[in-house]
Amino acid sequence: MPQPAWLDDAVFYQIYPQSFCDANGDGIGDIEGIISKLDYIRRTGFNALWLNPCFVSPFKDAGYDVQDYFKVAPRYGTNDDLVRLFDEAHRRNMHVLLDLVPGHTSDRCRWFKMSAKPLRNKYSDRYIWSNSGWSRPDGYNWVVGNADRNGAYMLNFFLSQPALNYGFNNITDADWQISYRDKRVKPTMVAMLKVMRFWLDKGADGFRVDMADSLVKNDPDKSATAWLWRKARRMLDRHYPQAALVSEWCNAPVAINKAGFHCDFLLNHGGKLTDFAFYKRNEQGASCAYFCKTAHVSAQQMLQLYLDELAKTRNNGYICVVSGNHDVERLSHYLDESERKLAFVFLLTLPGAPFVYYGDEIGMRYIAQQSKEGGFHRTGSRTPMQWDDAQPNMGFSTAASGKLYLDVDRQQDAPCVSKQMSNGNSLWNVVRTLAEIRHAQADLHASSEMTVVECTPQGVLCYRRGQHTYVLLNPTDCPQVSTVSVGSKIFELGTASEKDGVTMLAPQTAVIFQK
Ligand code: BGC
Ligand code: CA
Repeated sequence: MPQPAWLDDAVFYQIYPQSFCDANGDGIGDIEGIISKLDYIRRTGFNALWLNPCFVSPFKDAGYDVQDYFKVAPRYGTNDDLVRLFDEAHRRNMHVLLDLVPGHTSDRCRWFKMSAKPLRNKYSDRYIWSNSGWSRPDGYNWVVGNADRNGAYMLNFFLSQPALNYGFNNITDADWQISYRDKRVKPTMVAMLKVMRFWLDKGADGFRVDMADSLVKNDPDKSATAWLWRKARRMLDRHYPQAALVSEWCNAPVAINKAGFHCDFLLNHGGKLTDFAFYKRNEQGASCAYFCKTAHVSAQQMLQLYLDELAKTRNNGYICVVSGNHDVERLSHYLDESERKLAFVFLLTLPGAPFVYYGDEIGMRYIAQQSKEGGFHRTGSRTPMQWDDAQPNMGFSTAASGKLYLDVDRQQDAPCVSKQMSNGNSLWNVVRTLAEIRHAQADLHASSEMTVVECTPQGVLCYRRGQHTYVLLNPTDCPQVSTVSVGSKIFELGTASEKDGVTMLAPQTAVIFQK
């Protein structure tokens, strides 16, 4: 299958627009602010962006409740500003993914308001309605009493997010369920393709697709949902072959092989690589994640399913590992800085395109706090980027501190870009160096093979990328021995030294070498 060529060397940076940089001093991040930081992003080694939703919305779920798919939310700027962001990114050889929310809209979306009218119209079947206000079949989330139409409507996520109607695969109640192949539900995907074309024509380079597996209901094997996405993929292959589709699915064989996504995200789902690598805790609540220095676990469990999925999706698309995102506690909540440095060596040397959540490159903290815009526990990972130690808001905004969308981290030792940049040993410097090495070595690009060379019960892991490039890790707080001899080093954290025919690895060592 053809792939957008740029994905092979893409290193993504995820930007939560509310919290990145406020250019006009109203207390909330905006597109102009993002443009002003493109040089920083590029300099750090990121050559692709994913922007969380930036469209008109009542923000009951931080913009994942879209009211108008064709218009940038005024708080972030205008459509012209977004086009300028595309242009400025392209000038720097960067690509930009927008966030496409295809499974639901806001209940303030015009499509929904039309659908909720009692008189039949072209939007009546755009959402999923039961037969009458009194009929709310078990097993689904319904809302009734919010519209004059005699029916209850199904939710896809929060109360404000009615499910768009892509039909049902297994029909269990023909009174109100429509087959996904029925012409009454076809306009829903047609509308979503129109949204995609609108932004691609303006210069977007593709989409991160929210809850991509959620389209067709009663679709346990996801075959009908995949069938719909293949239509989208055909449209891209024909008209926008360099546009990328990245799914939030977390099931790469289905998302990539069956649904035709170019990439699928690996987030914090239990049993997956990221869970074993960064998050996992034992029954007593202690970390047993591979990168926790005191956990001393083998990488074997962490890699098992990943390698299997990698083999299954080979040549079809990429599994993308992320440092975190706006839905989970930040990486710094789970791993200390020394552990995170090694975790970044792993993240930035894996196959597929890595994604780094804004602020993770400087070690921003998870700050538990009151929910904002439907964030709940996620709000703590959505605080403003900290650029320097300038008052009033660490370079994020010139607004009075009480006027910020969310407050910055005001602790004495809060990390910030300027301090991280001027410290040669900082996390930022590790991330930047690794990204640079990745760009320079084709062996480390998305499509090149990964072969495990050594994986010991004590936690030593060595893998080869491509033909010549190796990564050797000892994430533990103890010295370890490896039987792999180290060739010419291109990166070293800690120390790896050869002695009596074996390689001695100091605690928390990571080496990239070639031979
Ligand atoms: C997004 C969330 C959002 C949800 C509903 C996701 O998985 O990442 O932030 O709340 O979809 O749209
Ligand atoms: Ca602003």
